[in-house]
Amino acid sequence: MKRIAIPSLLLVLVLALASAALAQNVHRNAPAAHEPEPYIPGRDVPWVPTPQVLVDKMLDMARLTPQDMAVDLGSGDGRTVIAAARRGARARGIEFNPELLEESKRLAAQAGVTGATFIEGNMYETDFSDATVLPLFLMSENLDLLLPKFLTLRPGTRIVNNGFEFTAWDYDEIGYLSGDACGKWCVAYLYIVPARVSGLWRTDDGELELAQEFQWLTGTLTSRGKRMPIERGRIQGDVIRFNAGDMRYTGRVIGDTIVGQIAGEYMPRWSARR
Ligand SMILES: C[S@@+](CC[C@H](N)C(=O)[O-])C[C@H]1O[C@@H](n2cnc3c(N)ncnc32)[C@H](O)[C@@H]1O
Repeated sequence: MKRIAIPSLLLVLVLALASAALAQNVHRNAPAAHEPEPYIPGRDVPWVPTPQVLVDKMLDMARLTPQDMAVDLGSGDGRTVIAAARRGARARGIEFNPELLEESKRLAAQAGVTGATFIEGNMYETDFSDATVLPLFLMSENLDLLLPKFLTLRPGTRIVNNGFEFTAWDYDEIGYLSGDACGKWCVAYLYIVPARVSGLWRTDDGELELAQEFQWLTGTLTSRGKRMPIERGRIQGDVIRFNAGDMRYTGRVIGDTIVGQIAGEYMPRWSARR
């Protein structure tokens, strides 16, 4: 039998180890056959995934609870929907791209979450009136087109969008991430759907006339014949607050009634009906 020299044996061993390491590395770096690569052109916006750290930040900003129904319009690979379901909320993704939809379902099954569903469809044509939280990654032009529908959602619904703002609607809160983990996408904007309060309200001793632009209120309060301009008027969900005269009014809008208190030593109650 031919004897193998020790240096040759070493060389064979080194080559075998190197090729095993290379094979492992290739396997680690290569996407699975079914795993889509980011930056796929989309119907109205391309697929660019929100970094997971920003997804988590956005759900924190929305103060998502297990009672919420989260809807992502253009849900990509489903990461936001899966993250919301992981926090115990019900969550739904609407996605136009069937490949991404399949990937979302695979990842949701892999994560073992219940309460996450994915629907193939056009976000402009789907019903999302049951949403209480919308964690999104859309561009301003998409948001602006969806704005009329957003404003009909129940007051207090939170819309939180990665990177882009509505053109006309000013955000209620901005959230920043620092560090490298978020890469390019490190800012999110939170919008709280305001109750619709514009118009004439009757108070116990006069009337309240309100004009509303998103969450900002102007108008007049007439009390015992004295007409006063509304200042620092704001509505956040169903919570209304404004100054009139020397008084600070706060209250809750419940359908066609506002019930609240006037700031001061005795915190007198006030109410209005329309
Ligand atoms: C910027 S990505 C955001 C993905 C995901 N929401 C996230 O944050 O990782 C936008 C997604 O919207 C999808 N999309 C584009 N136009 C759409 C439409 N009209 N209806 C439904 N999905 C759409 C794209 O395929 C893409 O997956």
